[in-house]
Amino acid sequence: MSAPSNEEKAGAGSRAKGPVIHRQSIWTRATHWTWVVCLFFLLLSGLQIFNAHPRLYIGQESGFAYDNSVFSIHAERTPEGGVAGVTTVWGQRFETTGVLGFSGGGDQPLQSRVRAFPASVTIPSYQDLATGRVVHFFFAWALVGTMLVWFVASLVNGHLRRDIVPRGADIKGLPGDVARHTRLRFGHGRSYAPLQKLSYGLVLLILFPLIVLTGLAMSPGINAGWPWIVDIFGGRQTARTIHFCVMVLLVAFFVVHVAMVVLAGPVNTMRSIITGKYRIDAGEEER
Ligand code: HEM
Repeated sequence: MSAPSNEEKAGAGSRAKGPVIHRQSIWTRATHWTWVVCLFFLLLSGLQIFNAHPRLYIGQESGFAYDNSVFSIHAERTPEGGVAGVTTVWGQRFETTGVLGFSGGGDQPLQSRVRAFPASVTIPSYQDLATGRVVHFFFAWALVGTMLVWFVASLVNGHLRRDIVPRGADIKGLPGDVARHTRLRFGHGRSYAPLQKLSYGLVLLILFPLIVLTGLAMSPGINAGWPWIVDIFGGRQTARTIHFCVMVLLVAFFVVHVAMVVLAGPVNTMRSIITGKYRIDAGEEER
């Protein structure tokens, strides 16, 4: 009879424990928590800025003379004389009263209830574009600085090459890793699993630079100095739409990411991103 595997020894769903290793450098940990704080303030102040003109367009122009709107959140009078929140996506209408377009309690003045994103998810909670912009630009530059620190440190200490950029073996291992994830079986190795590498690489090397570049494309100063940034996105309005879509992707990543941390063993994974120490599965140390 063959010897039981580590998985069999430990029972279904978990594997035999191996040693505790030092997995995350201080640079990875410090930059991770800095960008979490930056993204929190960027999201909430961004929704405040969006509320000032809650409509997205494709192309160079926006305005009454064009019909190039692809997304909008607004309030409408209902035939019964009430007010409804309405969200349109590529011409499809959805009633979103209570969440988008028209929200808040009946005790509040009607004027303050007509808002694209509700007061609970904007900074400041009341309509104040100027303060929203100050907060947004402060944390945008803080994010840019954090990304530069992460990039240089990860290049120098080998984290980028070893753990983020996918190799041939990661691509080959992808179907197996997807199958393991769908069965909620998570291994604990020295480096990230293929799906982790791909999702972190997507966030760090594509989504973060894209959200910064599309942000710069909306800045009048950058428009004047480096108009090619606006041109590569096909106009300021398209850049604004891409900026918003990347925000939605980052929020989706955040939800899945936190769910994966919980499912993969929250104590061990959280310890790794706070203290750097991580317990790997038995057998992983030889790899
Ligand atoms: C703002 C949203 C967040 C983003 C964009 C984000 C992104 C990332 C990225 C890109 C990595 C890999 C970093 C690297 O290797 O250099 C990572 C690792 C990690 N993140 Fe986040 N994160 C976010 C929020 C959070 C939160 C709220 C938690 C805790 C609940 C968390 C827990 C972790 C853990 C435990 C790891 C290490 C995973 C492992 O070692 O297997 N993250 N995150």
